[in-house]
Amino acid sequence: MEKLLSVSFGDPEAKKIQKYEASGGYKMLRKAIAMQPQKIIDEVKASKLRGRGGAGFPAGVKWGFLPKDAETVYLVINADEGEPGTFKDRTLMKWDPHRLVEGAIITCMAIGAHHAYIYIRGELVEEASILETAISEARQRGFLGRSVLGKPFPLEITVHRGAGAYVCGEETALINSLEGRRGMPRLKPPFPAVAGAFMKPTIVNNVETISYVPIILGMGGEAFASLGTEDEGGLRLIAVSGHVERPGVYEVPCGTNLMEIINDVAGGVRGGKALKGVIPGGSSTPVLLPDECDVPFSVSGMGGAESIAEVEVWDGRKFEVMAGRTLRSSPGSGAIIVMDETVDMVHVCARLMHFYAHESCGQCTPCRVGTSWLNRLCHKVDHGEGAPADLEQLALIADGIAGKTICPLGDAAAWPMLGFLTKFRGEFEAKVSGNKKEGA
Ligand SMILES: Cc1cc2nc3c(=O)[nH]c(=O)nc-3n(C[C@H](O)[C@H](O)[C@H](O)COP(=O)(O)O)c2cc1C
Ligand code: SF4
Repeated sequence: MEKLLSVSFGDPEAKKIQKYEASGGYKMLRKAIAMQPQKIIDEVKASKLRGRGGAGFPAGVKWGFLPKDAETVYLVINADEGEPGTFKDRTLMKWDPHRLVEGAIITCMAIGAHHAYIYIRGELVEEASILETAISEARQRGFLGRSVLGKPFPLEITVHRGAGAYVCGEETALINSLEGRRGMPRLKPPFPAVAGAFMKPTIVNNVETISYVPIILGMGGEAFASLGTEDEGGLRLIAVSGHVERPGVYEVPCGTNLMEIINDVAGGVRGGKALKGVIPGGSSTPVLLPDECDVPFSVSGMGGAESIAEVEVWDGRKFEVMAGRTLRSSPGSGAIIVMDETVDMVHVCARLMHFYAHESCGQCTPCRVGTSWLNRLCHKVDHGEGAPADLEQLALIADGIAGKTICPLGDAAAWPMLGFLTKFRGEFEAKVSGNKKEGA
């Protein structure tokens, strides 16, 4: 299978600048210096590169949202990676830090930013130190500082360590945290491209998104695009975990069949057991049943926003959050969690609800109250202490959160709750059957 971003994974020498340069590293920076910024943006647009932080927004289009007359622009690289199941950015920064540094410098030149921040999850101590070393090597080579390789373009990259809050991966919470404020999401609009870090126009992109930029300049936007699907170019990293023979980080063309990823790339379900469910794109994406995994691993292939539909869950109640039994999900941040027949799905759901209740910043009521309520109720059902009415209550609470909060963390709790509840309803019912008492 072709590799672009993962060629150096496993090579301890690759993080050194000498090795990176020997294998063609920083050549694209030299090329970019001679290019008009708009030409770089055009190549990224042509590449059909979508953001790899979860939402899948086209990177070149986002860059185009910056006001044309902005005097100060910032690039913020999101290395927070805190969602359960995610570990691809950490792997990328560990093995190939210069790819990110080169991508950051080229992106800054394209968007006119003289300062880039890499906001890295606090727990990633080793990766933060690897990045610091790579940045100082790049500075010694003249790629950073008062000029970039002699071109009068002052540029600095700062590594900023977070303090372990998942919500700080949300771009506006991240910006608040970067500024020294509490890491709470901001109301949008204004979007960061208009008023972001220090209220200046800011582009926030994921580590993987930015790391693909030198590769795109090297092979050309169209060639990169042709490796993926019609509306999602190139390859992408995936982090496969759970009950597979070969868990790990892999690089696959966008749109690769999810079942092929599980069976061929990750070696199939561990120990020959049967597949029970798959969380396809990090814990915020709704779980899929085995017969729903024969889908292209891409934003349009798995539905995403377009799949949101009114659906009757049960008892005539309608929810406008997901498409029920044939729920289409999302490749999200590429974190595929595979669960075999031995897994207690109610327990998994309860564990996830605990996570979201703990990580809610508490700023808006549906999320603050709803996630805690889901957590308590799910926990009760999981321990066999729930009543049948609790299941309906879980659905109603989730429906009361989805789409009604300041940031998508609320949805990130509600969607998986509804996914588990509708797909594995029988397991939830089994845990409450025989309990006659009223729901919470
Ligand atoms: C609760 C929450 C956590 C998030 N965590 C991350 C993260 O760790 N890394 C990331 O790149 N994006 C994360 N995002 C998405 C960012 O808000 C943003 O969309 C992304 O960084 C943009 O980069 P991209 O366009 O390159 O994907 C998170 C979003 C939410 C709502
Ligand atoms: S949805 Fe949750 S995490 Fe997001 S702003 Fe509201 S309370 Fe905070």
